[in-house]
Amino acid sequence: MKKKLLVTAALPYANGSIHLGHLVEYIQTDIWVRFHKLQGRECFFVCADDTHGTAIMLRAEAEGITPQQLIERVHKEHTEDFAGFFVEFDNYYSTDSEENRFFAEDIYLKLRAADLIAVREIDQLYDPVKNMFLPDRFIKGQCPNTKCNAKDQYGDSCEVCGTTYRPIDLIKPYSVVSGATPVTKQSAHHFFKLSAAEAFLREWTRSGALQEEAANKMDEWLSQGLQDWDISRDAPYFGFEIPDAPGKYFYVWLDAPIGYMASFKNLASKKNLDFDAYWKAGAEENADLYHFIGKDILYFHALFWPAMLKNAGYRVPTRLCVHGFLTVNGEKMSKSRGTFITASSFRQHLNPEFLRYYYAAKLAPTMDDLDLSFEDFVARVNSDLVGKFINIASRAAGFITKRFDGKLANSLPRTELLARVQTASQDIAAFYEAREFGKAIREIMALADLANQYVDEMKPWELAKQPEQEPKLLEVCTVGLNLFRILTLYLKPVLPKLAQQVEAFLDIPPLAWTDAGQLLTGHTIKPYQHLLARVDAKQVEALIEANTQSLQDKPKVNVEPIGETIGIDDFSRIDLRVAKILHAEEVLESDKLLKLTLDLGAEQRTVFSGIKSAYKAADLIGRHTIMVANLSPRKMRFGESQGMVLAAGDGNGIYLLNPDAGAQAGMRVK
Ligand code: MSP
Ligand code: ZN
Repeated sequence: MKKKLLVTAALPYANGSIHLGHLVEYIQTDIWVRFHKLQGRECFFVCADDTHGTAIMLRAEAEGITPQQLIERVHKEHTEDFAGFFVEFDNYYSTDSEENRFFAEDIYLKLRAADLIAVREIDQLYDPVKNMFLPDRFIKGQCPNTKCNAKDQYGDSCEVCGTTYRPIDLIKPYSVVSGATPVTKQSAHHFFKLSAAEAFLREWTRSGALQEEAANKMDEWLSQGLQDWDISRDAPYFGFEIPDAPGKYFYVWLDAPIGYMASFKNLASKKNLDFDAYWKAGAEENADLYHFIGKDILYFHALFWPAMLKNAGYRVPTRLCVHGFLTVNGEKMSKSRGTFITASSFRQHLNPEFLRYYYAAKLAPTMDDLDLSFEDFVARVNSDLVGKFINIASRAAGFITKRFDGKLANSLPRTELLARVQTASQDIAAFYEAREFGKAIREIMALADLANQYVDEMKPWELAKQPEQEPKLLEVCTVGLNLFRILTLYLKPVLPKLAQQVEAFLDIPPLAWTDAGQLLTGHTIKPYQHLLARVDAKQVEALIEANTQSLQDKPKVNVEPIGETIGIDDFSRIDLRVAKILHAEEVLESDKLLKLTLDLGAEQRTVFSGIKSAYKAADLIGRHTIMVANLSPRKMRFGESQGMVLAAGDGNGIYLLNPDAGAQAGMRVK
């Protein structure tokens, strides 16, 4: 009996769309899982959205929605994208779940009980306007390398010279959130003492859990010495609060991999599966745990994750399957070149199974980058899938329907060709198992070539003209369709939908791997219908065109969902007035605020408005706008704000409302 198998793909961040780069991972994992399921292995594939952290918190804020609303919307989008590419998870969950909170606390408390958590004060950059500590990526400034001094570099490393440094080292740092100059502030942080796991990590590295390239990376990291890992972040933070540490939250990378467990736990509750059989210490004997990830997140999965699991009394991963990055037409994906393509955009222009096929044909179990060359894509899909594979069926099926009422021959001679195609099942299975998808595809296409040669040699169209050759015609077409059926099975992990269409056409139950051993005879098939259309280079052009963002393009509006319905009474309680801006000045201590003096006809008001990023104070003086006149006054650090002016925005721009010319201060808006 083979071990049970639990497979994961990395959890995509819940603040962006799935793109062709992500799909390199999700498609390859799905192919591998489907292969095991076809083989009848007990196998589950779980994933989730990675929902916590500063980026998601600020993105939601910019859109004027709660983080929960944001992650709910993105969850729906991601689910649709994956379904569209036939990436079939047994469970697609969220790290913002009770199961995840439970395991995050559980693992943390076990590490703490084992004396593996240290708490100490650290200095960190703080945004005095936004009142929050700033993650490295939210601080920019001049590169501290004196030979470089490039402007606008992130807090962790310089994109110009490649130097890495601490954000504190930046020259003239500023907060990306507010523009303010950050100040240094102390705060207590919680650390996982990673160095305690060094011996275990050395052993795990050599246990066959890593590809050679990944194991080499690990050796490099281990030889540099393991630093304690900072697992806490200060409020405001969207995540889980740390037990017994009010105002401190788990860093998103602490609870993200735990999301693998949480998603499986959720599945286990729904399907009545034995969670412990997969996750408790010692489960290694009965169940394999495979994580598919990109090379950019190896560090988190090869150091922290196994060390956390081991020291909290859980099983460790069997293997990390690490892949490289996608390039398109030989270059990094680029918005201006139109090669930064989202999953949903691809689906609108091209058959998603073509991308699955193309990736499969190019994948190998290495960390090398993979190139999507669109010229090659068009040629490959047309020649392999349409020209070789589908061609076998379209040449044999017509005669069966027209001449034999759809019924295949009752028996077939055991030819060398049939035997060759049937026994290839072992090599192809070995290739799939080893994630040598490119080799599997090459072998399958070599078999398709043999099948086409056979049809070419037998010339069924000639046989069809000679009545005495009828039995031979039936035999040739039956052989052809049997070859087609077996090749369909071999391609099924890659092309699940096409395989389903073929099963419907042949009128057979879903193919399983062992079906390669049997032949289909004496069986009636359905009339052949067109299974696949060629790709036209024009479709690719349209796709690229649709994704090309010219620099003058207006950014797409982040449309917030429309709020709850209110009655007219609710609306009339809001007293909106035309106001004339008599005076405007900058609030020097604030990056956002302008101080406005407004004329309301019968009185004047002072209002602080967060529009500094969009307007120069002097330009506003004299113009009219709309204000909420009956909003209760609010004490602010700089004075009292007596109302609010109205502006439109989607997080990217601010647009003050303007009444039409002629409207006068004090007029009511209704
Ligand atoms: N949220 C983290 C993963 C947490 S796992 C506990 C993350 N998310 S991600 O959305 O940025 O990436 C998800 C996966 O897609 C990662 O494995 C990443 O390597 C992969 N890819 C993202 N862009 C990619 C390419 N351009 N090419 C290939 N894979 C890429 O990292
Ligand atoms: Zn630099």
